[in-house]
Amino acid sequence: MDLILGIETSCDETAAAVVADGNEVRSSVVSSQMARHAPFGGVVPELAAREHLKAVEPVVLAALREADCTLGDLAAVAVTAGPGLMPALLVGVGYAKGLALGQGVPLVGVDHVLAHIYGAFLDGGVDALRDPATYPLLALVVSGGHTLLVLVRADGTAERLGTTLDDAAGEAFDKVAKLLGLGYPGGPVIERTAQGGDPAKFAFPRGLVPTGGRPVAPEDRHNFSFSGVKTALLYHCRNQGGGEGLGTAWSEGFLADTAASFQAAVVDVLCRKTAAAAAEFSAATVVLSGGVACNRALRERLRQALPTSLALRIAPPKYCTDNAAMIAGHAWHAWRGGVRHGCALDAYCRLPALSRMPFRA
Ligand code: KG4
Ligand code: ZN
Repeated sequence: MDLILGIETSCDETAAAVVADGNEVRSSVVSSQMARHAPFGGVVPELAAREHLKAVEPVVLAALREADCTLGDLAAVAVTAGPGLMPALLVGVGYAKGLALGQGVPLVGVDHVLAHIYGAFLDGGVDALRDPATYPLLALVVSGGHTLLVLVRADGTAERLGTTLDDAAGEAFDKVAKLLGLGYPGGPVIERTAQGGDPAKFAFPRGLVPTGGRPVAPEDRHNFSFSGVKTALLYHCRNQGGGEGLGTAWSEGFLADTAASFQAAVVDVLCRKTAAAAAEFSAATVVLSGGVACNRALRERLRQALPTSLALRIAPPKYCTDNAAMIAGHAWHAWRGGVRHGCALDAYCRLPALSRMPFRA
């Protein structure tokens, strides 16, 4: 039984987890800083780093305690190396280096985006990863920082098919919620506000999908753009004679219809693009993960948009939002394959320029 401690500090959650054999989650502790960032309507990188510094040790100790193990039981320490906010990443990477060095165990750096995909396989799904029938696997990773379509092939390589040209889907939820004065984080509050609203009431634009007989440029067919819907929403609010942000007294009905129509526009784009890519690459499996994958409208609509012959794996909500179980689980494959980053591990803030990334060793 190989126990790996995972540490995650790429954004505004300080998380640690112990996972056995890349599969069985023994503990997963998440300490959220959301309340500290809420007054700013988004994550402040320097503030995030200071909060991680305070939280990382207690969170790691809690994860070890909950897993009923000690540092001496660990086969390796894994940490998110990127992408993410650089000041925030450096806290986790520095702490993990110290821990691994002090303990004399290997240190493995993990890619946060690939780990999000792995989140759909925790707690018993690892056998599916070994099964060639699972591939090609198409993953839609939708979070506050990323909107990506990733294709994973049976040989274990991952290729980024498309990404957002401007805002990430979660970022659009967050910005629209701020505009409507609904608070932060935007995803959950937009979803709540949309309940009872009419998703067809306002026709918000769908970015980079064929509209009015006009096709999308081939190079953008797997890319996303959410700045158009955000701007449309801004003008939509102004046309209602309201200003921006907190204090604007929108009627409940207007807010519900606006939130529902906005959510429908984003979900529509995500599902249409995923279904088109799944067909193009004859995907056997589709994975949905990342914070926005908590959204029930998206989960339901994607189920309807895909043929039933295709296996759809949606990460459970606790592994959709940032957590360290996905880091420790994913790291196990690299560790077994001999990956040892040691103290040379560097944090990186953007997705690697390389279009192919190893997914499993
Ligand atoms: O994966 P995550 O925890 O952090 C990043 O790696 O970014 O994702 C956070 C994002 C936020 O933008 C948040 O608004 C969004 O996920 N989110 C949602 C929902 N829950 C969280 N978006 C839509 N609907 C939700 N229910
Ligand atoms: Zn994330």
